[in-house]
Amino acid sequence: MSDLLASDRLPGFVQACYIIAAILFIAALAGLSKHTSAKSGNVAGMLGMALALVATILLAARQASLPDPGDDWRSLPVTIGLIAVAMTIGAVIGLRRAKTVEMTGMPELVAILHSFVGIAAVLVGFNSFLDPGELSGALERIHSVEVFIGVFIGAVTFTGSIVAFLKLSAKMKSAPMMLPGRHLPNLAILVASAALMGWFVTDHGELAGGVERALIPLVLMTTLALVLGFHLVAAIGGGDMPVVVSMLNSYSGWAAAAAGFMLSNDLLIITGSLVGSSGAILSYIMCKAMNRSFISVIAGGFGSDGAVTGEVRDYGEHREIGAAETAELLADARSVVITPGYGMAVAQAQYPVAELTAKLRAKGVNVRFGIHPVAGRLPGHMNVLLAEARVPYDIVLEMDEINDDFDETDVVLVIGANDTVNPAALDEPGSPIAGMPVLEVWRARDVVVFKRSMATGYAGVQNPLFFKDNSRMLFGDAKDRVEDIVRALP
Ligand code: TAP
Repeated sequence: MSDLLASDRLPGFVQACYIIAAILFIAALAGLSKHTSAKSGNVAGMLGMALALVATILLAARQASLPDPGDDWRSLPVTIGLIAVAMTIGAVIGLRRAKTVEMTGMPELVAILHSFVGIAAVLVGFNSFLDPGELSGALERIHSVEVFIGVFIGAVTFTGSIVAFLKLSAKMKSAPMMLPGRHLPNLAILVASAALMGWFVTDHGELAGGVERALIPLVLMTTLALVLGFHLVAAIGGGDMPVVVSMLNSYSGWAAAAAGFMLSNDLLIITGSLVGSSGAILSYIMCKAMNRSFISVIAGGFGSDGAVTGEVRDYGEHREIGAAETAELLADARSVVITPGYGMAVAQAQYPVAELTAKLRAKGVNVRFGIHPVAGRLPGHMNVLLAEARVPYDIVLEMDEINDDFDETDVVLVIGANDTVNPAALDEPGSPIAGMPVLEVWRARDVVVFKRSMATGYAGVQNPLFFKDNSRMLFGDAKDRVEDIVRALP
């Protein structure tokens, strides 16, 4: 073993492993972009990560085994022992969480995991500042810039992700926080951080006790960046959280890439950049789908001034329908569109929905699904559930593909969706979801809405769809009600 670690060929071998791991990560992203190849994409990602871990541990073991007199912490058994303890604790917590997390709790879990990447970048940055190794001249200045930017991105990601976690798990109000001056505090923090970077890079003095004086601007900037991350996400309203989650995903990638620069680890740079850019592309796609400006997301707020009317309107009376009557409507229909939402995930109604779909298709009814880009609580949430229940991919359509067909649709089943089918997004400029494109289900002949009560959806706004003449409410748990319909269908 010691011969292997001391071998001159080991660094080259590690680099080769890193290149293969990077290719596997790219293959993972390519695989995950289609339903049919998602499983193999996951396998490629896991193989890449396993290879990256083995190569990194070998590299750490080699560094620890090289003679470094007087530094006990770098002895081989201590290094391997510390890595093993950290990995065991992480694996136990990770396995437990992965086994217990509900699909509906995934966004919160993802948000809190992003915060770990953020805090890791901050810690790596401080460690890299306190123990920079042998650097001088231009290299030292470049390293200082890497540390400063890495800590900044990490700190913004850390608090931003914690606020996202709190909002997604309803532990914090989802309404946007409006500070006086709105975007001015963010701008002031950016300007102050730029000035602090100048101080950090140029100050080579020492404080009492031999600590470098540059620690002061680093600590000040970290505090400001933590506040910035908090404010950027707190200023964003509930319905717009999906874009924020993917934006934080992108930030966490850049934080990891920054940590890669500080640690001179090529694979971390590549992996961080892949996550950073794919998160940014996803945010851009979601911004387009939600009709929001990409720049204003990065600036921590949507729309011009974030003002919403909060006006409570009287939309009149709603009407109800039973499962048997819905079954009759469906039996007589030629075309049916199902628009699922978060409630289908909560009820785990995808299996009876798939059964209902198969039964109707067997009777010659044209059944299709209309999927809103932010339906549920994470990108692709509905697609995953429907794929799980083996609904054929070719009848699952995106919002843009189905929206023009509602005029010719006999029956729409809105299963646990609310904000994504809310006409107020188009008709009420003061609404918190104003401007967001929605599934225009009300244009169909009949609409049946499955939900348990008249409660609002995630964005907290009432839905005028429920009061339209062609809409009827089918109250109860979505799974139970769909099962009732399957039983009642002739
Ligand atoms: P929502 O607006 O969240 O509405 C879901 C509806 O499902 C609720 O009105 C609820 O009404 C009903 N429901 C809950 N449990 C149910 C059950 N067991 N059976 C039947 N109905 C049930 O759903 P949506 O239309 O999918 O919209 C998603 C919202 O989440 C958007 O505002 C979006 O911006 C936001 N969001 C999305 C994401 C991503 S990436 N997709 C991430 C974060 C936030 P009752 O309580 O009356 O049953």
